[in-house]
Amino acid sequence: MPPIIEIKDLSKKYGKRTAVNQLNLAVEAGEIFGFVGPNGAGKTTTLRILATLLRANGGEAFIAGHSVRKAPRGVRGVIGYMPDSFGIYHDMRVWEYLDFFGACYHLREGERKRLVNDLLELVDMTPRRDEMVDKLSRGMQQRLGLARTLIHDPQVLILDEPASGLDPRARVEIRELLVELARMGKTVFFSTHILADVAEICTRVGIIEAGRIVATGTLDELQRGLATQRAVHISVLDRATEAQEFLSALPGVGGVEAHVEQNQQQRTRLEVKFTGDDAALSAMLSGLTARSIPIVHFSEDSQNLEDIFMQLTKSSLD
Ligand SMILES: Nc1ncnc2c1ncn2[C@@H]1O[C@H](COP(=O)(O)OP(=O)(O)O)[C@@H](O)[C@H]1O
Ligand SMILES: [Mg+2]
Repeated sequence: MPPIIEIKDLSKKYGKRTAVNQLNLAVEAGEIFGFVGPNGAGKTTTLRILATLLRANGGEAFIAGHSVRKAPRGVRGVIGYMPDSFGIYHDMRVWEYLDFFGACYHLREGERKRLVNDLLELVDMTPRRDEMVDKLSRGMQQRLGLARTLIHDPQVLILDEPASGLDPRARVEIRELLVELARMGKTVFFSTHILADVAEICTRVGIIEAGRIVATGTLDELQRGLATQRAVHISVLDRATEAQEFLSALPGVGGVEAHVEQNQQQRTRLEVKFTGDDAALSAMLSGLTARSIPIVHFSEDSQNLEDIFMQLTKSSLD
C-alpha cells in the first residue's frame, strides 16, 4: 500500500519569505503521526496546503491518492481538517453547530439528527448539546471541533494543534480521543509545538524546523539517534572519592561530579557524563561492585523529550 499521505518537495513562499522548503514526508494508513516543530516552523502552512485551502508554490502532496493540486475535491472528500482556531459562532448551540456542518455536506435532516447524536456521544458531549458554542471551554471547543471533522466520515484527519491551550486534563482527553479515532481506522496527522503532547500516542513523529523536516521516526529512534551523551547517576553510601577516581579513569567517561545528598546524611551522588554503550555501562556497575563500593542507586537519565526537541531544533535559536 502506498502511503496515505505523501508530501513531495513541497514549498510555499509568502512574498519573499519561505515558509515551507522542499518538504518531504510519508504517513502510512492507520498512523497517529505527530508533526512537531516550534512556532513559525511551517506546520500550519503545510496543513493548510494538505487541506487544499492554500496552494503550494512547488512540489506535490497526495492524500489517499488524490493530488491536492489536481484533485482538491477528491482530497476534501477523504479528509477532515481542524484549523488551529475554532472561529466565532454566536448564537449557536452545540447540536446546531454540528447540524449546520452536516447540512453543508448535504445530509438530510433525519440523517443529520442521528449523526449529531452519534458524534456528541463519541466526543462525550451529549450532556452539553444545548449549551452555547461560544461559552464552551477551549477543551470542549476542541472536542466539538473534532466531532465536526468527522461529519463526512473521512479516512484522514488533519488537525492543527488540537492540544494547544488546553489544561492538562483536557489535553489527556484529546489524546485519548485521537487514540480512539485511530482505533476506528482513521489516520491522524496532527501538529504540535509541544513534543510532550505527542510522546505517548504517536506511532511516529516528524520534526519540522524552518520549513524542512529535520528528523522522522518513532520517539525511541529519535532518542537513540541523539543519545550520544549519556548521564548516569550513582549514589554511594561511602568511599565516594575512591568511586570517583575509578569512574574518572574509565574510557568514555567525560567527567564525574560529586554531590552530597541533602536529607540523606551518608549518601554521595555521583553524576557521570558518559559516551559508552550499554555493555560499557554495565561494566561500570560491575567494576564498582567488584571493588565493594556500597552503591544504593544506579540509573541512567533518560533524555527528556524537551531536550531532544531543543537539540533537533537548535539552529532556529542560533
Ligand atoms: N499569511 C501569511 N503571510 C505571510 N507570512 C506568513 C503567513 N502565514 C505564515 N507566515 C509565515 O510563515 C512561516 C510559517 O508559519 P506557519 O505555517 O504558521 O508556522 P507554524 O504553524 O509552524 O507556527 C512563519 O515565518 C510565518 O510568519
Ligand atoms: Mg501553526
